[in-house]
Amino acid sequence: MTEERRTACRDDWEAHQLTMPEPIPPPARVWTSDVMDEIRRGYVPHIMDEKWFIFMEGDRLFLHRSWTGLGVYEATFTAADGGFVIGSAVVTGDRTQYKRSSDQDESLILETIITGHLLREPPSASEPADKSPHLRWELSVPNIPREMFFPQVVEAAGPELSLVVGDITELPVDAIVNAANSTLLGGGGVDGAIHRAAGPELLEHCRTLGGCETGQAKITPGFDLAARWVIHTVGPVWGGGGLGEPELLASCYRESLARADEVGVATVAFPGISTGVYGYPIEAAAAIAVETVRATRTNVTEVRFVAFNQATYDAYSALL
Ligand code: AR6
Repeated sequence: MTEERRTACRDDWEAHQLTMPEPIPPPARVWTSDVMDEIRRGYVPHIMDEKWFIFMEGDRLFLHRSWTGLGVYEATFTAADGGFVIGSAVVTGDRTQYKRSSDQDESLILETIITGHLLREPPSASEPADKSPHLRWELSVPNIPREMFFPQVVEAAGPELSLVVGDITELPVDAIVNAANSTLLGGGGVDGAIHRAAGPELLEHCRTLGGCETGQAKITPGFDLAARWVIHTVGPVWGGGGLGEPELLASCYRESLARADEVGVATVAFPGISTGVYGYPIEAAAAIAVETVRATRTNVTEVRFVAFNQATYDAYSALL
């Protein structure tokens, strides 16, 4: 009923070690040997809407947030009558990264992630055809508030987020982000607009940088722009979502904020990286932009997402 899945391993996705482990009550459920085989195969996300990367090493299951790689749960299985049980489980206690619920709720969430992502049930005929089985399952979980199933990253410590409409080259912020290509030698779209507004010195400066890899970012002065700095990042070209695009796009936001921190700026404006010529679907790209900025440790105090068209505005306003 489910598509063929190979066994996931740590190297299949970004995975940062769980920090500050806090024990939670192990879910009481007994998992049969067949079910255990399914669990052992883990789960590698392959569409943007999925939230978890899950793999098993030995008798321990590791559950990471897919967009940030954050280690959230670890569960150790042990043999029992009728199969296996979780003998011990922990959740990260790092509240700057993950806003955890009560012990009992965390135990329930752990169990539902395992059943939802690893033991998927076939979708029923009445459900919409345009969503993945995993998404269908998540949306139909009874009695569990959505925010519990999609735990929120703590926002208080991060920058204030806002949505503005208009031309990014005119914004009076400390740094604007450019959706560049790997040559850093200019192009169309927002890249062309930024080079026109900054003047020829920007291109001269960019020639000295030796290009930039996808997912990375480099910083230059803003020259004639109102913004003092331009952070050039290279987004992924959309190829259907299975080529690492979500992680590369998240990396663009993280790396841009890292460059901003290196020069100590407070306000940064981002266009929808990759959502023009590079074809990244705007709803998915906006979700990654917002979640990644929220999850990144930075000294930037204000991030403005800039909408240059209606679809971009709609996607961000649904999230902010
Ligand atoms: N202000 C704010 N946003 C803008 C502006 C502007 N002045 N102009 C366009 N956008 P794109 P990509 C929005 O195609 O998809 C270039 O040729 C636009 O509506 O500029 O990452 C580079 O050199 C869209 O939402 O960047 C690369 O070759 C978003 O900016 C390639 O395009 C990004 O659209 C990069 O493609």
